Amino acid sequence: MIRRAVIFSVAFLLSAGPVPGNANGDAVRGAQKVAACAVCHGAPERPPLPGMPTLAGQQPEFLVLQMFFMREGLRVVPPMAGLLKDFTDRDLEDVAAYFSAQKPSPESSKRDQQIYARGAALSRGMGCGSCHLADYRGQRHIPRITGQREDYLALTLRAYRDDKRTGADTSMNAAMYRATDSDIRDLAHYLAQQ
Ligand code: HEC
Ligand code: HEC
Repeated sequence: MIRRAVIFSVAFLLSAGPVPGNANGDAVRGAQKVAACAVCHGAPERPPLPGMPTLAGQQPEFLVLQMFFMREGLRVVPPMAGLLKDFTDRDLEDVAAYFSAQKPSPESSKRDQQIYARGAALSRGMGCGSCHLADYRGQRHIPRITGQREDYLALTLRAYRDDKRTGADTSMNAAMYRATDSDIRDLAHYLAQQ
C-alpha cells in the first residue's frame, strides 16, 4: 500500500511538473545511449528475446514514465538492475524518442481463430479500447498494446492481475482483477495479432 501511495504521488508530480514525461526527446542523442538495450529488447533488424517487450513504436510518454519508475526502484525489473542509474531525465526522454520513432514490428505467430475471437470479445467486454484506443496504439502514458510480443503481453497481464506489477495508477490491476488464465491467453493472442 505504501509503495502504491508513493507511485501515486510520483505520477502526480510528473503530471504537474516540467520533469520527464513528454515527447521532447532527441532521437539522435537517444541512439547513443541504447547500445546495452538491444540484446534483450531487440533492434529494428531482430526481435526481442522471449518474454521481453519490444519498445519500437511505443508511446514516448509511457516509456519515459516506466524508465523513471525503474530508475527510482518503483518498478522492479531484476534483469535491468542498475542499468538506468546514470541516465538523467533528459537521457530518458531522448531514449524514449529513439524507440518511439521506430516502426512497431508485429509478431507473426499463427492465428488461432477461436482464441482470437474469444480475445476480441473479451477486449470489447472489458473496455480495453476505452483507454488504449480502438486500434490499441495507446496515448500519452497509456501504452501501445499491439505490435507487442504475445508472451510478454500474457506475462505482464498476469503480473497486473496478481498485483505484482504496479504502475502509474491502478487502472490495470482493476481491469485484470477477475481475469482467468485463459482470458489472459486469449487477450494476448488477439492483441498480438492486430
Ligand atoms: C537483460 C535484459 C534487459 C536489458 C539489457 C534491458 N532490459 Fe529493459 N526490460 C527487460 C525486461 C525483462 C522487461 C520487462 C519486465 C517486466 O515486465 O517484468 C523490461 C522492460 C523495459 C521497459 C518497459 C517496457 C514496457 O512495455 O513496459 C523499458 C522502457 C525498458 N525495459 C527500457 C530499457 C532500456 C532503455 C534498456 C537499455 C539501457 C534496457 N531496457 C535494457 C530486460 C532488459
Ligand atoms: C482505465 C484505463 C485502462 C483500461 C480500461 C485498460 N488499460 Fe491497460 N493500461 C492502462 C495504463 C494507464 C497502463 C500503464 C500502467 C502502468 O504504468 O503500468 C496500461 C498498461 C497496459 C499493458 C502493459 C503494456 C506494456 O508494454 O507494458 C497492457 C498489456 C495492457 N495495459 C493491456 C490492457 C488490456 C488487455 C485491457 C483490457 C482488459 C486494458 N489494458 C484496459 C490503462 C488502461
